[in-house]
Amino acid sequence: MASLFPIDVADMSELDAEVELKRLAAEIKLHDKLYHTKDAPKISDAVYDKLRLRNQEIETKFPHLKRSDSPSDRVGSEVQSGFKKITHTRPMLSLANAFDEGDVQDFIERVQRFLGLADEELVLTCEPKIDGLSASLRYEHGVFVSGATRGDGRVGEDITQNLSTIAEIPKKLSGDGWPAVLEVRGEVYMSKPDFNALNVAQENADKPPFANPRNAAAGSLRQLDVAVTRTRKLQFFAYAYLFYDADGNDATPTLNSHNANLHALEAWGFTINPLTATCATLAETMAQYHKIEQQRSKLPYDIDGVVLKVDRLDWQSRLGMVSRAPRWAIAQKFPAEKAQTKIKDIEIQVGRTGALTPVAKLEPVTVGGVVVSNATLHNADEIARKDIRIGDTVIIQRAGDVIPQVVEVIIEKRDAASQAFVFPDHCPDCGSPAIAEGDDVVMRCTGGLVCPAQHVEQLRHFVSRNAFDIDGLGAKQIEELWQKELVRSPADIFKLVDKNKTLGEPIQNWKGWGELSVDNLFAAIDERRTIPLERFIFALGIRHVGQASARLLAKNYGSLDALITAIDAAQNVDTEAYANLLAIDGFGEKVAKNLLSFFAEAATREMVDNLIASLDRVEDFIAPKNDHAIAGKIIVFTGSMEKMTRSEAKARAESMGAKVSGSVSAKTDIVVAGPGSGSKGKKAKELGLNVIDEDGWLALIAE
Ligand code: IVH
Repeated sequence: MASLFPIDVADMSELDAEVELKRLAAEIKLHDKLYHTKDAPKISDAVYDKLRLRNQEIETKFPHLKRSDSPSDRVGSEVQSGFKKITHTRPMLSLANAFDEGDVQDFIERVQRFLGLADEELVLTCEPKIDGLSASLRYEHGVFVSGATRGDGRVGEDITQNLSTIAEIPKKLSGDGWPAVLEVRGEVYMSKPDFNALNVAQENADKPPFANPRNAAAGSLRQLDVAVTRTRKLQFFAYAYLFYDADGNDATPTLNSHNANLHALEAWGFTINPLTATCATLAETMAQYHKIEQQRSKLPYDIDGVVLKVDRLDWQSRLGMVSRAPRWAIAQKFPAEKAQTKIKDIEIQVGRTGALTPVAKLEPVTVGGVVVSNATLHNADEIARKDIRIGDTVIIQRAGDVIPQVVEVIIEKRDAASQAFVFPDHCPDCGSPAIAEGDDVVMRCTGGLVCPAQHVEQLRHFVSRNAFDIDGLGAKQIEELWQKELVRSPADIFKLVDKNKTLGEPIQNWKGWGELSVDNLFAAIDERRTIPLERFIFALGIRHVGQASARLLAKNYGSLDALITAIDAAQNVDTEAYANLLAIDGFGEKVAKNLLSFFAEAATREMVDNLIASLDRVEDFIAPKNDHAIAGKIIVFTGSMEKMTRSEAKARAESMGAKVSGSVSAKTDIVVAGPGSGSKGKKAKELGLNVIDEDGWLALIAE
């Protein structure tokens, strides 16, 4: 790689050194500011380190030229050079949502059915849902050793030093009875008064304010300079824990109640939320929810709902989880916050699959502490149904991180001259006709590959965080690279480094880029030449193939070759390959259809082939370590079961990597047959399959 700097330190005259030290002081200061105050670094940590190193080298050679504002004095060793990654011992889960009493009742009934509870009481722990950021803390023999952000749920960032600055996080556990290794999970947050004070200080220092306490907490926690984190007042509520023995094996807490364990955490030095309570009936749960809701505005911290958790730990582990959320918990969200404002304009945005989405441009208004100036209008039908017009006064609502929505139009305030909104029948970007297919309410641009907006959106999706995650390639950069015809397909991103060498006006000379950011970008691109299969699939942006489906495909086919071979074969719906695709749990015909047509289309296929050719490797799916003996096996449950319900048995089998099928065939590996197994049991015996009873099944999964 070419040097970032025009003159080597060894060749510098005194004058060169003086000029360069001044430049470096200003540049490092700028990047510190970008990183620390905006949480938006423009260069990679590696490049930042190079700047500091060069500064240090010049100062060593010319000690008398060291400046009074030298960067080496300012932050010194406290600056960490980027965060290391930490793989969570167990994934950090998310929560399914409940929006009303009916959803809570469904949740309770679902749990009761799953566990096969008859008259037994189902106690729930109700805790406020704190609106902050989750963190996982690890204690070995009672000593805080490391802490991580949630990250993508499986791998987070090592923010041990920053978490150490939080007084509510004990450095050593108090009392006794804690396991050899304890992991505590909870929410880092900033109180409302501390947030207000921070914003006043930001303003006085001419720095941009934070939008809300959660952003302020996030910006404070992900500081590379721990000295800055220390000045921010962060707090921590503990709400979950994992117990391990000294060898890292699971250890079962002695107390079988979540609430009791929270109190154990309290005794060990953690803060738990004082509004936590246990409830034994739906009525009690709802009463607790309303009690917390009433206190919401008076609490010194933001909450956005109540989390309901099955209190018995043995039941929690039987319930397990389903696609990254526990079956034993649910977040009961507070109703959205509302405000009144005016629609200045209606813009039509073109998404990556050609969907035309109308967006209301609003007169900015504060809703629940956040300034809102856009609201989604969803689609043409929604606009027509609510008769939303430009100039209308409307009520908008915002719930959590969801894009604000228009709830209703205040007709009395409508201008007499206003006209109904006419939804365009052509794509505003490429002019191709826009149509709504079948019973789809969404109008889509038919321009496909000729529509620049679709292309740009596809590319934005491709580089986004959960896809290729290329730092330094945001919407603005993609748009510019597209306009200048440098990046027209994902493969072009990986050719950029070479292409740039042949440009009359290389990217580093473009306005707003510069040597360092280009160097940074190329390093980020290089890092992604090897990519896990599931990210690769998700990045393709196939309609209806989100992260969960991409992961399922990766898990089922294992490698890119196997996946493509299977898809090619499945193009014929009479094949086993097609049946296998549909048999993937959670896959419907709609997903399969989109997947197949994506790969059948010559142009998209070419895009994929070019991409593969420009990468070093698409990594095979790596099955989680705890693969069980039944992983990959096809199991059929038939007849009745006594010790667990059929749905629990199915969930357990799937969580251990097995496939559960409804019918017995020669392919079946194990048949679990209880009393009354009838024809399936008979067929299994005829086929000479491995037939076991419920006790055999329990022994199998206990291994
Ligand atoms: S339990 C195993 N309890 O909500 C369940 N989460 O939507 C995992 N959160 O990432 C979380 N307060 O950041 C739990 N009392 C609480 C919580 C809570 C806030 C957050 C947490 C999590 C998110 C899930």
